[in-house]
Amino acid sequence: MVQQTREQWSGSRGFVLAVAGSAIGLGNIWKFPYMAGANGGGAFVLVYLLCILAIGVPIMIAEILVGRRGQSNPVAAMRAAAEESGVSPVWRLIGGMGVLAGFLILSFYSVIAGWALDYTLRGLTGALSGLGAEEAQAQFGSLLDSPGLQIFWHTLFMLICFLIVARGVRGGIEWAVGWMMPLLFLLILVLVGYGAWIGAFAEGFTFLFRPDFSQLGPESVLMALGQAFFSLSLGMGAVMAYGSYLSPQESIGRNTVVVITTDTIVALLAGLMIFPIVFSIGLEPPAGPGLLFQTLPYVFGQMVAGSFFGFLFFLLVVFAALTSAISLLEPATAYLMARRGLSRLQAAGILAVIAWILGIFSALSFNLMSGFHPLGFIDALSGKTFFDLLDGVTSNIMLPLGGLGVALFVGWRMKRAAVAEEVRLGSYFGLWYFVLRFVSPVLVVLVLLYSVGVLRG
Ligand code: PFF
Repeated sequence: MVQQTREQWSGSRGFVLAVAGSAIGLGNIWKFPYMAGANGGGAFVLVYLLCILAIGVPIMIAEILVGRRGQSNPVAAMRAAAEESGVSPVWRLIGGMGVLAGFLILSFYSVIAGWALDYTLRGLTGALSGLGAEEAQAQFGSLLDSPGLQIFWHTLFMLICFLIVARGVRGGIEWAVGWMMPLLFLLILVLVGYGAWIGAFAEGFTFLFRPDFSQLGPESVLMALGQAFFSLSLGMGAVMAYGSYLSPQESIGRNTVVVITTDTIVALLAGLMIFPIVFSIGLEPPAGPGLLFQTLPYVFGQMVAGSFFGFLFFLLVVFAALTSAISLLEPATAYLMARRGLSRLQAAGILAVIAWILGIFSALSFNLMSGFHPLGFIDALSGKTFFDLLDGVTSNIMLPLGGLGVALFVGWRMKRAAVAEEVRLGSYFGLWYFVLRFVSPVLVVLVLLYSVGVLRG
């Protein structure tokens, strides 16, 4: 009896750590602040939070449920759940799109993680100490301008990710997440505090939390939706894959709430860590993907032992990125192994090489190919680089569609009895089921239609 209780606890802990490791990553620390900056601040943040509540929470519960019910990789789990409820196995295509989306995201994710690797080294060599605002920005500019340096770090990150997935060392990941995430969290708190002291805290806070709806265009709403999916690792089967490891006794609802709350707090704190600095050093909030790397080095430059703190911070960011990247590569690897009978090493290797090649185009989007706009003939997409397009298509279209598919599948196609038996949400079941069937899908469809202009006349 005693032993059983302990096992259940450690099962839940392992699951929460794995899902939190996937969710918390560059999406929170790098992407959320610059998206908020580019989309006017408070109103974007508010829509983002609404998306998390009305779409993220119900869909995460649904994904975990399917994974646990189907006991397999996303594609096979969708098929198994479909068969059990006597509906078409075509629903597995949703799992298939997710596998592809994760793989595409990995390609550019690795490039940005490469930037963090570069900054880890700078911290180690002392290059982050005593930097002024302009020097910090110039340093980042020189990294962006260098295809060689970016490709080098991208290669290294992809290689590490490949090695971990190829060896399947899940235990090590949980262990690492277990102490590194709390440390990262603590360090972010310190940086928020320090930033509040040396920066323009009131201005940053207002920007982030006072909604100004005149700043919120249709694309911004779509981006908030995409960011919610991206940050929670939803819509591509990563959470579904982890769901298959959750023991039947565990509460899906409670675990979901823990992960989503943590993820959201980390994103908001990252915003609070960055915007007071943005305003105090005269940067513009819509500065783009470089925002994190243009602001924090300045903070480290002012701190006692700043290089050491910079080293520690970027190292932890690299680890947060790694635990997310693994969950991006793992579903595609599991799928390729099952489908083509490849070994884990072969499957992960083939995928990592293709993602690496794609990633090179993302790295070049910031320099040699910055003038190359693949879909420039479409008005709304003129000026978008290869990186912008890949990021936009995956986060803002593929993930929401994947999530929509899961919501429709669980809400409308799976047998209600099977769903209820698996989630066991108690008195919350009715509310969750209603939101999953009616609210989340309708909202996703409305946002997609609104952003392409169908609903705007
Ligand atoms: N959620 C991760 C982040 O916020 O950095 C990125 C990510 C991981 C997206 C896994 C999607 C995914 F399936």
